[in-house]
Amino acid sequence: MDMMIRLGILGTGAMARYYAKLFAGLNPVMVGRQDGSYALSQGREKTIVTPRFLTWTQAHPSMFDLVLLAVKWPAMPLVQAFLQEASPNLLVISLMNGMGQEETLIPPLSSDQLMVGITTTAVTLYYDEEIGLPAARVTAVGSAVLPLLPHPLVPFFQQQLHELGLSESWKFLSSDALYQERWVKLIQNSIINPLTALTHSTNGDLPQTHLWTLSRPLLQEAREVSQALGVALPPNLASRVLQLCQKTSANKSSMLQDIEHHRMTEIDAINGYIVRQAHELKLKAPTHEALIQLIHAMENPDS
Ligand SMILES: NC(=O)c1ccc[n+]([C@@H]2O[C@H](COP(=O)([O-])OP(=O)(O)OC[C@H]3O[C@@H](n4cnc5c(N)ncnc54)[C@H](OP(=O)(O)O)[C@@H]3O)[C@@H](O)[C@H]2O)c1
Repeated sequence: MDMMIRLGILGTGAMARYYAKLFAGLNPVMVGRQDGSYALSQGREKTIVTPRFLTWTQAHPSMFDLVLLAVKWPAMPLVQAFLQEASPNLLVISLMNGMGQEETLIPPLSSDQLMVGITTTAVTLYYDEEIGLPAARVTAVGSAVLPLLPHPLVPFFQQQLHELGLSESWKFLSSDALYQERWVKLIQNSIINPLTALTHSTNGDLPQTHLWTLSRPLLQEAREVSQALGVALPPNLASRVLQLCQKTSANKSSMLQDIEHHRMTEIDAINGYIVRQAHELKLKAPTHEALIQLIHAMENPDS
């Protein structure tokens, strides 16, 4: 098929800015609340990007073949409403943190239309004083992994990735193998994100804080839930979490950044997902529940 995929990117934040630059060759449309140019820094390179833009009400799913979700979880009701009129031809990709995308978006989508994957790329928002523009900095260039779904657009997307030189960094795995990877990432996030937010520490400093002792029960509770769901987790997960803190030592987790900027966090889609699954399975996850309450109290300091 000789066609250019019509790409829509939902959101205008850090990841959306990164994707709009990465897929500039597809002339994507950003959908959100903030129009305008921005700077994207990666290493020594700085590019000014001015993507096409539509508000949530101006955009319609029929304008796109492929939609990339790049919002934080508090925007999910908007995404859900936006996708109400999606045709079965639309393919939607989420590389958001947390879990529960399927529960939120199927329906309106069918299971063949929603590719939920993970990314190890890290991007931070900032304001570029030098050029006077909102900006995003790529702090780690990682890879994206997506499930190989039987949707007819997938081979064309793979072809486009190839043409854009991205087939090494955008990989495909069977849904089952990816589901296990998603759980590993969920558990890592459920430990590192709230604990760094509560201690105001970088990822590297977290293992030296008193609250790090909670990493054990957090891991244990999450492990019981995932095991009950039949997910085989790697046995060395505790050391992998520690290694991740060391490997990303200078990073401020997204939850810490959200708290610092008085924004809502994604705790309900991370630890909240584990707690909801625990309850359905008649299991307990009291440490996760306690952290959710503490983070909510930090989100609303005046209440
Ligand atoms: N940044 C990273 O390094 C990274 C890495 C891996 C995964 N992720 C995941 O990728 C997703 C996007 O992250 P991000 O870093 O790009 O977040 P971000 O920079 O905070 O951007 C979030 C986007 O969501 C929109 N949004 C948030 N709440 C909203 C609401 N209530 N109503 C309407 N729009 C709302 C924001 O709009 P406004 O700007 O108008 O508020 C913005 O466009 C998250 O799930 C995150 O966990 C991020």
